[in-house]
Amino acid sequence: MIDSKVGILDILQAKKEGRKLVMVTAYDYPFGSMADEAGVDMVLVGDSLAMVVLGLNSTVQVTLEMIIHHIKAVRRGCKRPLVVGDMPFMSYNTGIRDAIINAGRLMKEGGCDAIKLEGGVDFALVVEAIVKAGIPVQGHIGLTPQTAGALGGFKMQGKDAAAARKIIDDAKALEAAGAFSIVVEAVPAPLGRLIAGSVAVPVIGIGAGVDVDGQVLVTHDMVGLFDRFVPKFVKQYTNIRPTIIEAIRTYGDEVRSSAFPTLKYSFGMSDEAQTELRRSLANQDGQVNG
Ligand code: KIV
Repeated sequence: MIDSKVGILDILQAKKEGRKLVMVTAYDYPFGSMADEAGVDMVLVGDSLAMVVLGLNSTVQVTLEMIIHHIKAVRRGCKRPLVVGDMPFMSYNTGIRDAIINAGRLMKEGGCDAIKLEGGVDFALVVEAIVKAGIPVQGHIGLTPQTAGALGGFKMQGKDAAAARKIIDDAKALEAAGAFSIVVEAVPAPLGRLIAGSVAVPVIGIGAGVDVDGQVLVTHDMVGLFDRFVPKFVKQYTNIRPTIIEAIRTYGDEVRSSAFPTLKYSFGMSDEAQTELRRSLANQDGQVNG
Protein backbone atom coordinates (compact mmCIF):
# COMPACT_ATOMS: atom_id res chain seq x y z
CA MET A 1 0.00 0.00 0.00
CA ILE A 2 1.21 3.52 -0.86
CA ASP A 3 1.32 5.49 2.44
CA SER A 4 1.22 9.14 1.36
CA LYS A 5 -1.01 10.89 -1.22
CA VAL A 6 -0.92 8.65 -4.30
CA GLY A 7 0.48 10.28 -7.44
CA ILE A 8 0.92 9.20 -11.05
CA LEU A 9 4.57 8.26 -10.41
CA ASP A 10 3.48 5.92 -7.58
CA ILE A 11 1.12 4.17 -9.99
CA LEU A 12 3.88 3.71 -12.60
CA GLN A 13 6.38 2.62 -9.93
CA ALA A 14 4.00 -0.05 -8.62
CA LYS A 15 4.25 -1.98 -11.89
CA LYS A 16 8.04 -1.70 -11.91
CA GLU A 17 8.12 -3.15 -8.39
CA GLY A 18 5.52 -5.82 -9.14
CA ARG A 19 3.06 -4.37 -6.59
CA LYS A 20 -0.60 -4.90 -7.49
CA LEU A 21 -2.78 -1.80 -7.65
CA VAL A 22 -6.21 -1.62 -6.02
CA MET A 23 -8.95 0.52 -7.53
CA VAL A 24 -12.68 0.82 -6.75
CA THR A 25 -15.43 3.14 -7.85
CA ALA A 26 -17.10 5.71 -5.58
CA TYR A 27 -19.78 8.28 -6.28
CA ASP A 28 -20.25 10.11 -2.98
CA TYR A 29 -18.58 11.21 0.26
CA PRO A 30 -19.30 8.05 2.34
CA PHE A 31 -17.91 5.66 -0.25
CA GLY A 32 -14.97 7.96 -1.03
CA SER A 33 -14.00 8.09 2.63
CA MET A 34 -14.53 4.33 3.14
CA ALA A 35 -12.35 3.53 0.11
CA ASP A 36 -9.68 5.88 1.47
CA GLU A 37 -9.85 4.25 4.92
CA ALA A 38 -9.66 0.78 3.32
CA GLY A 39 -6.35 1.77 1.73
CA VAL A 40 -7.09 1.61 -2.01
CA ASP A 41 -4.65 3.23 -4.45
CA MET A 42 -7.14 4.72 -6.92
CA VAL A 43 -10.81 5.70 -6.76
CA LEU A 44 -12.77 5.99 -9.98
CA VAL A 45 -15.78 8.26 -10.18
CA GLY A 46 -17.08 6.11 -13.01
CA ASP A 47 -19.95 6.70 -15.38
CA SER A 48 -21.30 3.42 -13.97
CA LEU A 49 -22.92 6.07 -11.74
CA ALA A 50 -25.71 5.99 -14.34
CA MET A 51 -26.67 2.42 -13.59
CA VAL A 52 -25.74 1.70 -9.98
CA VAL A 53 -26.71 5.07 -8.45
CA LEU A 54 -29.13 6.76 -10.85
CA GLY A 55 -30.96 3.59 -11.95
CA LEU A 56 -30.56 4.32 -15.68
CA ASN A 57 -30.21 1.53 -18.24
CA SER A 58 -26.86 2.58 -19.69
CA THR A 59 -23.95 4.92 -19.07
CA VAL A 60 -24.72 6.96 -22.18
CA GLN A 61 -27.02 9.46 -20.42
CA VAL A 62 -24.42 10.63 -17.91
CA THR A 63 -23.45 14.28 -18.37
CA LEU A 64 -20.27 16.16 -17.55
CA GLU A 65 -22.15 18.14 -14.87
CA MET A 66 -23.27 14.91 -13.16
CA ILE A 67 -19.72 13.53 -13.06
CA ILE A 68 -18.33 16.85 -11.76
CA HIS A 69 -20.98 16.92 -9.01
CA HIS A 70 -20.06 13.39 -7.88
CA ILE A 71 -16.28 13.92 -8.15
CA LYS A 72 -16.63 16.86 -5.73
CA ALA A 73 -18.40 14.66 -3.18
CA VAL A 74 -15.88 11.81 -3.52
CA ARG A 75 -12.95 14.21 -3.34
CA ARG A 76 -14.18 15.54 0.04
CA GLY A 77 -13.94 12.04 1.48
CA CYS A 78 -10.91 10.83 -0.40
CA LYS A 79 -7.62 12.39 0.65
CA ARG A 80 -4.95 9.75 -0.05
CA PRO A 81 -6.01 7.76 -3.16
CA LEU A 82 -5.62 9.04 -6.71
CA VAL A 83 -9.09 10.15 -7.82
CA VAL A 84 -9.91 9.46 -11.46
CA GLY A 85 -12.91 11.12 -13.14
CA ASP A 86 -14.65 9.33 -16.01
CA MET A 87 -15.23 11.27 -19.23
CA PRO A 88 -18.91 10.84 -20.20
CA PHE A 89 -19.99 9.64 -23.63
CA MET A 90 -19.69 12.47 -26.20
CA SER A 91 -17.58 14.66 -23.92
CA TYR A 92 -14.42 13.67 -25.84
CA ASN A 93 -15.78 12.07 -29.03
CA THR A 94 -16.49 15.35 -30.84
CA GLY A 95 -12.94 16.58 -31.27
CA ILE A 96 -9.67 17.31 -29.52
CA ARG A 97 -10.63 20.82 -28.41
CA ASP A 98 -13.84 19.60 -26.73
CA ALA A 99 -11.91 16.74 -25.12
CA ILE A 100 -9.29 19.05 -23.58
CA ILE A 101 -11.87 21.57 -22.36
CA ASN A 102 -14.07 18.87 -20.80
CA ALA A 103 -11.16 16.97 -19.24
CA GLY A 104 -10.01 20.29 -17.79
CA ARG A 105 -13.47 20.88 -16.29
CA LEU A 106 -13.40 17.50 -14.51
CA MET A 107 -10.08 18.46 -12.91
CA LYS A 108 -10.70 22.16 -12.22
CA GLU A 109 -14.37 22.02 -11.16
CA GLY A 110 -14.49 18.48 -9.80
CA GLY A 111 -11.03 18.25 -8.31
CA CYS A 112 -9.95 14.84 -9.63
CA ASP A 113 -6.28 13.97 -10.19
CA ALA A 114 -6.71 12.28 -13.58
CA ILE A 115 -9.38 11.40 -16.14
CA LYS A 116 -10.36 8.13 -17.83
CA LEU A 117 -11.79 7.70 -21.29
CA GLU A 118 -12.91 4.73 -23.37
CA GLY A 119 -11.20 3.83 -26.65
CA GLY A 120 -7.87 2.63 -28.06
CA VAL A 121 -6.17 3.29 -31.41
CA ASP A 122 -9.08 5.50 -32.58
CA PHE A 123 -8.69 7.81 -29.57
CA ALA A 124 -4.88 7.88 -29.33
CA LEU A 125 -4.67 11.43 -30.72
CA VAL A 126 -7.27 12.64 -28.22
CA VAL A 127 -5.37 11.01 -25.34
CA GLU A 128 -2.11 12.52 -26.55
CA ALA A 129 -3.62 16.02 -26.72
CA ILE A 130 -5.14 15.79 -23.22
CA VAL A 131 -1.85 14.50 -21.78
CA LYS A 132 0.04 17.33 -23.53
CA ALA A 133 -2.39 19.78 -21.93
CA GLY A 134 -1.15 18.51 -18.56
CA ILE A 135 -3.97 16.15 -17.62
CA PRO A 136 -3.09 12.53 -16.74
CA VAL A 137 -5.18 10.04 -18.72
CA GLN A 138 -6.18 6.47 -17.92
CA GLY A 139 -7.31 4.47 -20.97
CA HIS A 140 -10.17 1.95 -21.05
CA ILE A 141 -10.29 -0.83 -23.65
CA GLY A 142 -11.80 -4.28 -24.19
CA LEU A 143 -15.49 -3.98 -23.30
CA THR A 144 -16.22 -0.25 -23.42
CA PRO A 145 -19.72 0.21 -21.92
CA GLN A 146 -20.42 3.57 -23.62
CA THR A 147 -20.25 1.84 -27.03
CA ALA A 148 -21.37 -1.62 -25.89
CA GLY A 149 -24.14 -1.57 -28.52
CA ALA A 150 -21.58 -1.38 -31.31
CA LEU A 151 -19.61 -4.24 -29.67
CA GLY A 152 -22.63 -6.55 -29.63
CA GLY A 153 -23.78 -5.85 -26.05
CA PHE A 154 -22.15 -6.31 -22.66
CA LYS A 155 -20.04 -9.27 -23.83
CA MET A 156 -16.52 -10.51 -23.40
CA GLN A 157 -14.18 -9.00 -26.02
CA GLY A 158 -11.07 -10.39 -27.77
CA LYS A 159 -12.41 -13.90 -28.20
CA ASP A 160 -10.53 -14.79 -31.41
CA ALA A 161 -6.94 -14.02 -32.38
CA ALA A 162 -7.78 -11.04 -34.62
CA ALA A 163 -10.01 -9.37 -32.01
CA ALA A 164 -7.42 -10.07 -29.29
CA ARG A 165 -4.65 -8.61 -31.47
CA LYS A 166 -6.68 -5.44 -31.93
CA ILE A 167 -6.99 -4.97 -28.17
CA ILE A 168 -3.23 -5.39 -27.74
CA ASP A 169 -2.75 -2.75 -30.46
CA ASP A 170 -5.18 -0.49 -28.57
CA ALA A 171 -3.12 -0.86 -25.39
CA LYS A 172 0.13 -0.05 -27.21
CA ALA A 173 -1.44 3.00 -28.88
CA LEU A 174 -2.64 4.31 -25.51
CA GLU A 175 0.79 3.79 -23.95
CA ALA A 176 2.46 5.60 -26.87
CA ALA A 177 -0.08 8.45 -26.49
CA GLY A 178 1.01 8.92 -22.88
CA ALA A 179 -1.72 7.16 -20.85
CA PHE A 180 -0.42 6.44 -17.33
CA SER A 181 -2.46 3.26 -16.99
CA ILE A 182 -5.07 1.28 -18.88
CA VAL A 183 -8.31 -0.33 -17.68
CA VAL A 184 -9.01 -3.56 -19.57
CA GLU A 185 -12.56 -4.86 -19.21
CA ALA A 186 -14.03 -8.30 -19.95
CA VAL A 187 -11.34 -10.09 -21.95
CA PRO A 188 -10.09 -13.69 -21.62
CA ALA A 189 -7.55 -14.07 -18.81
CA PRO A 190 -4.72 -15.19 -21.16
CA LEU A 191 -5.28 -12.03 -23.20
CA GLY A 192 -5.20 -9.91 -20.02
CA ARG A 193 -1.78 -11.38 -19.25
CA LEU A 194 -0.53 -10.68 -22.79
CA ILE A 195 -1.75 -7.07 -22.68
CA ALA A 196 -0.06 -6.47 -19.31
CA GLY A 197 3.14 -7.93 -20.76
CA SER A 198 2.93 -5.72 -23.87
CA VAL A 199 3.00 -2.32 -22.16
CA ALA A 200 5.13 -0.73 -19.43
CA VAL A 201 2.21 1.17 -17.86
CA PRO A 202 -0.04 -0.63 -15.34
CA VAL A 203 -2.97 -2.59 -16.76
CA ILE A 204 -5.94 -2.53 -14.38
CA GLY A 205 -8.25 -5.45 -15.02
CA ILE A 206 -11.98 -5.82 -14.55
CA GLY A 207 -12.81 -9.26 -15.82
CA ALA A 208 -9.34 -9.62 -17.36
CA GLY A 209 -7.97 -12.38 -15.11
CA VAL A 210 -5.38 -12.24 -12.34
CA ASP A 211 -2.20 -11.73 -14.39
CA VAL A 212 -2.57 -7.98 -14.80
CA ASP A 213 -1.12 -5.15 -12.71
CA GLY A 214 -4.17 -4.36 -10.59
CA GLN A 215 -7.92 -4.72 -10.36
CA VAL A 216 -10.91 -2.39 -10.35
CA LEU A 217 -14.45 -3.25 -9.24
CA VAL A 218 -17.67 -1.26 -9.03
CA THR A 219 -18.24 -0.94 -5.25
CA HIS A 220 -22.02 -1.16 -5.50
CA ASP A 221 -21.57 -4.55 -7.22
CA MET A 222 -19.01 -5.91 -4.76
CA VAL A 223 -21.03 -5.00 -1.65
CA GLY A 224 -24.42 -6.09 -3.02
CA LEU A 225 -26.04 -2.66 -3.32
CA PHE A 226 -26.99 -2.99 -6.98
CA ASP A 227 -30.02 -5.24 -7.42
CA ARG A 228 -30.40 -5.66 -11.18
CA PHE A 229 -27.57 -8.06 -12.12
CA VAL A 230 -24.11 -9.19 -11.05
CA PRO A 231 -21.54 -9.46 -13.86
CA LYS A 232 -19.57 -12.74 -13.99
CA PHE A 233 -16.34 -10.98 -13.04
CA VAL A 234 -17.74 -9.47 -9.84
CA LYS A 235 -17.00 -11.11 -6.51
CA GLN A 236 -19.49 -9.99 -3.86
CA TYR A 237 -17.40 -9.50 -0.73
CA THR A 238 -20.51 -8.72 1.28
CA ASN A 239 -24.22 -8.31 0.65
CA ILE A 240 -25.46 -5.27 2.53
CA ARG A 241 -28.72 -4.68 0.63
CA PRO A 242 -30.78 -7.18 2.71
CA THR A 243 -29.27 -5.71 5.91
CA ILE A 244 -30.30 -2.19 4.89
CA ILE A 245 -33.79 -3.29 3.83
CA GLU A 246 -34.25 -5.08 7.16
CA ALA A 247 -33.11 -1.98 9.09
CA ILE A 248 -35.58 0.25 7.22
CA ARG A 249 -38.37 -2.33 7.70
CA THR A 250 -37.75 -2.54 11.46
CA TYR A 251 -37.69 1.26 11.69
CA GLY A 252 -41.07 1.34 9.90
CA ASP A 253 -42.53 -1.22 12.33
CA GLU A 254 -41.25 0.78 15.32
CA VAL A 255 -42.65 4.07 14.00
CA ARG A 256 -46.05 2.47 13.45
CA SER A 257 -46.10 0.91 16.95
CA SER A 258 -44.62 4.03 18.65
CA ALA A 259 -41.64 1.95 19.82
CA PHE A 260 -39.45 4.62 18.23
CA PRO A 261 -38.32 7.15 19.36
CA THR A 262 -37.78 6.20 23.02
CA LEU A 263 -36.47 8.75 25.57
CA LYS A 264 -32.92 7.92 24.46
CA TYR A 265 -33.63 9.49 21.05
CA SER A 266 -35.73 12.44 22.33
CA PHE A 267 -34.85 15.89 23.73
CA GLY A 268 -36.00 16.70 27.27
CA MET A 269 -37.40 19.95 28.77
CA SER A 270 -37.13 21.02 32.43
CA ASP A 271 -40.25 20.84 34.66
CA GLU A 272 -39.97 24.61 35.28
CA ALA A 273 -39.93 25.38 31.58
CA GLN A 274 -42.92 23.10 30.98
CA THR A 275 -44.93 24.74 33.84
CA GLU A 276 -44.02 28.19 32.54
CA LEU A 277 -45.04 27.23 29.03
CA ARG A 278 -48.40 25.83 30.21
CA ARG A 279 -49.05 29.02 32.21
CA SER A 280 -48.22 31.23 29.26
CA LEU A 281 -50.49 29.19 26.97
CA ALA A 282 -53.34 29.35 29.56
CA ASN A 283 -52.95 33.17 29.85
CA GLN A 284 -53.03 33.48 26.09
CA ASP A 285 -56.16 31.32 25.90
CA GLY A 286 -57.74 33.47 28.65
CA GLN A 287 -57.00 36.67 26.71
CA VAL A 288 -58.37 35.22 23.47
CA ASN A 289 -61.55 33.82 25.06
CA GLY A 290 -62.23 36.66 27.51
O1 KIV B 1 -17.58 3.51 -14.93
C1 KIV B 1 -17.00 2.56 -14.39
O2 KIV B 1 -17.31 2.14 -13.28
C2 KIV B 1 -15.91 1.92 -15.12
C3 KIV B 1 -15.38 0.64 -14.56
C4 KIV B 1 -16.18 -0.48 -15.08
C5 KIV B 1 -13.95 0.49 -14.85
O3 KIV B 1 -15.53 2.39 -16.15
